Amino acid sequence: MTATEDLFTPVHKGLRSMLYDLSARLQTNDFADVAATGALLVQLENDFAVARSTGCALCTMSHHAHAEESVVFPPAAAAANSLVTQLILEHHDLTRRELAIAQAGHELVRLDQADRRIAAGVRLNQAANQLLCAYLAHMDREEAELVPLMGEHFTNEQMVSMRDAIIRSMPPEVLFAFLNWMLPSLNVNELSDLLASVRLTAPPPVFKAISDLCTAKVEPSRWAATRSRVGI
Ligand SMILES: [Fe+2]
Ligand SMILES: [Fe+2]
Repeated sequence: MTATEDLFTPVHKGLRSMLYDLSARLQTNDFADVAATGALLVQLENDFAVARSTGCALCTMSHHAHAEESVVFPPAAAAANSLVTQLILEHHDLTRRELAIAQAGHELVRLDQADRRIAAGVRLNQAANQLLCAYLAHMDREEAELVPLMGEHFTNEQMVSMRDAIIRSMPPEVLFAFLNWMLPSLNVNELSDLLASVRLTAPPPVFKAISDLCTAKVEPSRWAATRSRVGI
């Protein structure tokens, strides 16, 4: 069996872009500026119980871990139980880090003095950098170790049905929050394959919504090349 579908790499590209963006904004933020700091920390909203905030980086990471654990890991565990067990433990570690950062953000905005907010901002940056390191290493492990195993043990059809199950499990606004980061993060080959597949399988309004999102978010020459390849 030599399946070529990859359930992890495209969405991880989007998550990397999201994390790089968050990191860039965190490390340049003036924590003395209450308004700018408040706006930035909205991205770190920690309402995991609801986890519906589409602009929320931590919520998006939580959704991703949940999708992997509920749809992909159970069948994958039959082929690679030890690896999947370790990946779940890594999810728990990442969640602890995400919650600690969200909590630190809430405490930071309650500080009255600018110099104390600046000092807390330094610590917040350090914690976010450590999360970034751990998160990048985790995604790399999924791609380097789990993707090849999935290719050996599952057919393309099985993996496409797992992807469909993930998509069906997400409220539309959450799905589009992922696509908002993923679409501009793909190269022209990946984007063309995705758009061609969506055109064949999704209802026309969904295809139009995704195409409109590409127009808004994908670098214009890459989107033009994709449209030419797909014939749209
Ligand atoms: Fe994961
Ligand atoms: Fe992942």
